[in-house]
Amino acid sequence: MKNSEAIEKRRTFGIIAHPDAGKTTLTEKLLLFGGAIQTAGAVKNNKIKKSATSDFMEIEKQRGISVATSVMAFEYGGKQVNILDTPGHKDFAEDTYRTLTAVDSVILVIDCANGVESQTEKLMEVCRMRKTPVIIFVNKMDREGKDAFTLLDELEEKLDIKVCPLTWPIGMGDRFKGVYNIYEKQLNLFQANKTKISKDIVSISDLKDSQLDEIVGEAPANELREEVEMISGVYDPFNREHYLDAIVAPVFFGSAVNNFGIQELLDTFIEISPSPQGRESDLRMVEPSENKFSGFVFKIHANLDPKHRDRIAFLRIVSGKFERNTFYEHVRLGKKFKFANPTSFMAQDKTVIDDAFPGDVIGLYDTGNFKIGDTLTEGEKLMFKGIPSFSPEIFMELENLDPMKSKQLEKGISQLTDEGVAQLFIQQPGNRKIVGTVGQLQFEVIQYRLHNEYGAQCRFSPKNYHLATWITTADEAQLQKFIATKTGNIAKDKDGNWVFLAETPFLLQMAEQDYPGITFHRTSEFKLD
Ligand code: G4P
Repeated sequence: MKNSEAIEKRRTFGIIAHPDAGKTTLTEKLLLFGGAIQTAGAVKNNKIKKSATSDFMEIEKQRGISVATSVMAFEYGGKQVNILDTPGHKDFAEDTYRTLTAVDSVILVIDCANGVESQTEKLMEVCRMRKTPVIIFVNKMDREGKDAFTLLDELEEKLDIKVCPLTWPIGMGDRFKGVYNIYEKQLNLFQANKTKISKDIVSISDLKDSQLDEIVGEAPANELREEVEMISGVYDPFNREHYLDAIVAPVFFGSAVNNFGIQELLDTFIEISPSPQGRESDLRMVEPSENKFSGFVFKIHANLDPKHRDRIAFLRIVSGKFERNTFYEHVRLGKKFKFANPTSFMAQDKTVIDDAFPGDVIGLYDTGNFKIGDTLTEGEKLMFKGIPSFSPEIFMELENLDPMKSKQLEKGISQLTDEGVAQLFIQQPGNRKIVGTVGQLQFEVIQYRLHNEYGAQCRFSPKNYHLATWITTADEAQLQKFIATKTGNIAKDKDGNWVFLAETPFLLQMAEQDYPGITFHRTSEFKLD
């Protein structure tokens, strides 16, 4: 296959949601519609159940299982759809942020009763930052929820994006009759059915048609007429360019568990979503159509079996064609590597592949050479940008409980943080290790894995930091003064960048005021500038 054909064929995206909004269900239904799986229930393993929060090994096991479903590819409407899975559990939010660097668009799932929830806002922030095109799916319309107009207002306000409804619900909960496809001018009638795909679609070219009253009843028909008229007054017609520029998010309504509204979503997705996009590197913009291969690692998954410490590095292909058993430049290490068993992930199957194209995600077996953000090329010394670390939310000091095993501890924490399990900051001056995560769970995971895989014993003691900011300045004297004044709050990250650890947002604000010559970055991205 020619590169250009392969690129045009691919659609790589992620599904994001606040836990319980229906991400797993929607993923599964898309696979079902795409013919990648035959029965419902196949993706359920993927989900980290809330009840399992206290049992992190269970969670790790489930994460292990989820490797197989980390990327789910299927063919639909002449396209190869690659869905990149994002962990639902909030403690793994950083995994999700990083996965978002490897997608070209996202589908955001909202629960119609809960509207925009905390995790939804955070995830959207990352999408906005990266200008990722978003389609919104308002789920659970078979339940009572917020009124559709209220929801759209809430989406615009809280997510800071314009919305454009492409379907419109007729009623909701027990009164839910279906959705009207505004652009196709078709009515899709709802039948609660968890196993069968509803195909009850009626074309209504004119909403004034009395057929509508006969089908959904007079009152709901009138309501729909009024609402559709209002929509055309309030929202601009759909503009694909605006969607691709992440200015507007098209909105669909449906019920994932009932297979309802998925077809419209998938058909529109295939039509409007972007093909694989280029990525910015420290040297230049890299376009997918370039002949030479390049790609970056956005996720590393450890093997849970302590006897096999190999890991799988997930590589997103940016340009050219990746080929098995070919030497590629590992830019950070300045060394060449070839891969005998690169794998692709087709729904639940993992298969060794010979080649892969832009937009594809492949798994590379790794014995510790990769860390997140690493770039592979055909020789050019460029590094991809856009795989930043965000500030952790919980900070703990790592204490060694077995002085005889300090080497193992050092190695273990270094490798685990390469995998992105947590971030490591070394307090300055000195060598105190501050570990930062977005969830409590990671500390248990680290403690367990350090012991199990590296034979090291550790303890964590809480630190009262609130936020990590990366600091840079052109004024070396001011930096030195700042460092000398803020002892206890100064650290270096793993790459040797200066970091300020603030106890409160107020203290950070004060520091920003007092030291105008220093820039406080909210993500580590700056270092790639
Ligand atoms: P998540 O991955 O975003 O965390 O959510 P998930 O798909 O697991 O869905 C969360 C719950 O919401 C599940 O119920 C699921 O069945 C339900 N759900 C998903 N879509 C719909 C929908 O359209 N309508 C209704 N009414 N419910 C929906 P659960 O009880 O947690 O799990 P299960 O036992 O049903 O699997």
